[in-house]
Amino acid sequence: MTDMQRIYVHPLPVRIWHWANALGFIALILTGVQIRYVDLIGLMSFRAAVSLHNWVGWVLVGNFFIWLGFYLFTDKIRVYHPELSPVKHFRDSFRQLQYYGYGIFKGDPNPHHLSAYHKFNALQSMAYQIIMLLLVPLQFVTGVLLWDLKRFSGAVEFFGGVRVVDTVHVLLFIFFTAFILVHPYLASLGHTPSAHFKAMITGYEEVDE
Ligand code: HEM
Repeated sequence: MTDMQRIYVHPLPVRIWHWANALGFIALILTGVQIRYVDLIGLMSFRAAVSLHNWVGWVLVGNFFIWLGFYLFTDKIRVYHPELSPVKHFRDSFRQLQYYGYGIFKGDPNPHHLSAYHKFNALQSMAYQIIMLLLVPLQFVTGVLLWDLKRFSGAVEFFGGVRVVDTVHVLLFIFFTAFILVHPYLASLGHTPSAHFKAMITGYEEVDE
């Protein structure tokens, strides 16, 4: 057996944000399905689903700023930009894709080597940035507009009307529902299936010395 070294990769604010966010997303997906497809799952009344969806939505908007604030005000922001050369970034992304699509099934080693300031592979750092800086904010901005159409009627019209705002919100809901299935699968591809999950709980990732 190879010697393993423990590296602290997920600071406490990130772990708190992450698990509150994951639970919140599951609640938002379930209540969202209940609101949109009233008879499909029959979990609770329409009114209860709307009320819970709004509350959890607001909590997650606040929670997002824990994540953003942490990265903006610490040097850990470097984990999202370890590589400044776009050529190297795209070459590493391609290698990582080859590994997930093919190499992993032949037992090839993961091309990404983790360290404290390099905890994400090239695909992760790009995907997480698009998700956290574009898709999550878009989801909650459209959610807040739909929450009080009267108060935000000016902004709703600016974005093209209720149908546009609602369609963007629902398309993102479909994306996040798919994401919440694919993301844990990819997270289970560590040196053991539970390694990355444990790391997101304890903060420490184990790597070969
Ligand atoms: C059942 C739900 C979820 C599970 C089991 C899960 C699991 C994990 C695990 C194990 C990691 C650490 C390994 C890695 O970076 O891949 C992680 C990181 C991450 N997850 Fe999730 N996740 C869930 C839901 C979500 C949701 C809903 C989002 C966003 C909408 C999300 C966004 C992220 C981000 C941005 C990171 C990197 C965090 C950082 O270090 O800055 N996750 N997740």
